[in-house]
Amino acid sequence: MDAKTYMAGVFDRASDTYEQVGVPFFAPVGAELVRQAAPAPGDRVLDAGCGTGASLIPAAQAVGEHGRVVGLDLAPGMLAIAARSIGDHGLANATVLRGDAEHAADLLPGERFDVVLAGMMLYFLPDPPAAVRSMAALLRPGGRLAASLLAQPSREEAEFLTRVAVALAPFTSAAGGAPSPIGCTRPPS
Ligand SMILES: C[S@@+](CC[C@H](N)C(=O)[O-])C[C@H]1O[C@@H](n2cnc3c(N)ncnc32)[C@H](O)[C@@H]1O
Repeated sequence: MDAKTYMAGVFDRASDTYEQVGVPFFAPVGAELVRQAAPAPGDRVLDAGCGTGASLIPAAQAVGEHGRVVGLDLAPGMLAIAARSIGDHGLANATVLRGDAEHAADLLPGERFDVVLAGMMLYFLPDPPAAVRSMAALLRPGGRLAASLLAQPSREEAEFLTRVAVALAPFTSAAGGAPSPIGCTRPPS
């Protein structure tokens, strides 16, 4: 099994758990990413690795009815929750698309975005620079790519990530027990 199929499977199986465990942590991080990227009303935004919508929802609210947000993710379970959340928020300007961020430019030929978001996802990719190049190719001249990463987790964040890793452990085991890319500890497999 290649790394991306493995990763898509982990997040797919973990999507419900992710929503329960992750919202208190990921929702404010997603909102802050959008605040820093500052999409304007009418802008077009690509949210790569959108997950369940932590940055997709605030981005869609920021760009308003004349803007557009596309959420791209590999895991159908995460996308299903994001799509439900788009509906729950009554956002007609947002859609989701299943696909690989590393091939974003091929998936959205001819599209140009004012802002590309990559929230808490680059470290799940086998080749982050290739993904960044592909995403950046979709920016219009003067567009912005904004990413969030945990460069140096605080003690509380490290503890939280350990809890996330433990919560994901059953799902990683089901995929063959490959190493977890998140957190500071490796969950038992
Ligand atoms: C930690 S979650 C972050 C989700 C969301 N951006 C947030 O801030 O909550 C990482 C997401 O990246 C997605 N992902 C991993 N590899 C990917 C790839 N190659 N292309 C697209 N999405 C990917 C996973 O399915 C998962 O939904």
